Amino acid sequence: MPIKPAQLAGLLASARRGNDKDFYNTAEALATQLLRNIGSDDRALGSRLRAFVESERKLHAEEVLDLPEEPIDKGVVTPRVGFEDLRLPRRVAETLRQVMLEIQHPEIYREHNLKPTRAILIHGPSGTGKTSIAHAIAKDSKRLLRMAVSSDLTSEYMGATSPKIRDFFKSAGASPCVMLLDECDTLLHSRNTQRTNTAREEGDITNTMLQCLDAMHPNILLVATTNLLDCVDSAALRRFDHVIEMPLPSASAMGRRAAELAARHKLNPAVLSDLDLGATYATCELAIFAAVRRQIADGLAAE
Ligand SMILES: Nc1ncnc2c1ncn2[C@@H]1O[C@H](COP(=O)(O)OP(=O)(O)OP(=O)(O)O)[C@@H](O)[C@H]1O
Ligand SMILES: [Mg+2]
Repeated sequence: MPIKPAQLAGLLASARRGNDKDFYNTAEALATQLLRNIGSDDRALGSRLRAFVESERKLHAEEVLDLPEEPIDKGVVTPRVGFEDLRLPRRVAETLRQVMLEIQHPEIYREHNLKPTRAILIHGPSGTGKTSIAHAIAKDSKRLLRMAVSSDLTSEYMGATSPKIRDFFKSAGASPCVMLLDECDTLLHSRNTQRTNTAREEGDITNTMLQCLDAMHPNILLVATTNLLDCVDSAALRRFDHVIEMPLPSASAMGRRAAELAARHKLNPAVLSDLDLGATYATCELAIFAAVRRQIADGLAAE
């Protein structure tokens, strides 16, 4: 398979960032790809690239050994919202209230021979609050939030995604946390019987995810989100204790949210009726913020 420009760009970008580990891994993957090719030029280039990586690794072995394996706070982010900031449909709020009780008092559930919730999957249109819910669970349960966007875990190199996934799960160890796996459909893709390289790679990734989900420490609550529930593998779906749908808000709920935000940001309520709030809380928020900016600018211009 010929090397794609994006692969070379990736190699150069990791060199430019000074990220040795990424650079070596990328170069090694490229070397492997070149060595698989039939052309003798490609194979010679592959051998030289591999020899280069090996000698560089040896040269920097001492420095590499001095470094910690992985920063302990890998992927840790500060939760940006709590449940008091979120507008949730009643059924969703009730499910999440139960989940919060289970993760805050797991021993009580275990006394009743019940396993506390370990994984939830939230699906629905963009901007309805799926990611925000993971933040709220972490904030209100005072747990660390470890976040991985699927694009951070996937690699265009065959076989390079599964180790990244394992690393991410390992990095959480056994310490209590909320682990957010955003846009999880790419990692939990429905397996099929097609024999293409892509289908095989997707199958491997899903299998790795299933193993990681099964091996996950009970102190971890996994919150996975997706806009594409139909793409998620059925065996993966069974691993989730709750599959929660976030619907689009009703017009009246949007109106209430807009009024609430307008009051909070001192926006003249008279302008509300002229605003296009869009279809989601996210677009509603953007419309209000834009109106607040206009109001401030008008005020400054009038001074
Ligand atoms: N249910 C909600 N209640 C209050 N605010 C919300 C809600 N949903 C979304 N928002 C606002 O919209 C912003 C984007 O929401 P969020 O990122 O959680 O959406 P999402 O469903 O994860 O979208 P995507 O599928 O695009 O990732 C939030 O930061 C929040 O300000
Ligand atoms: Mg999201």
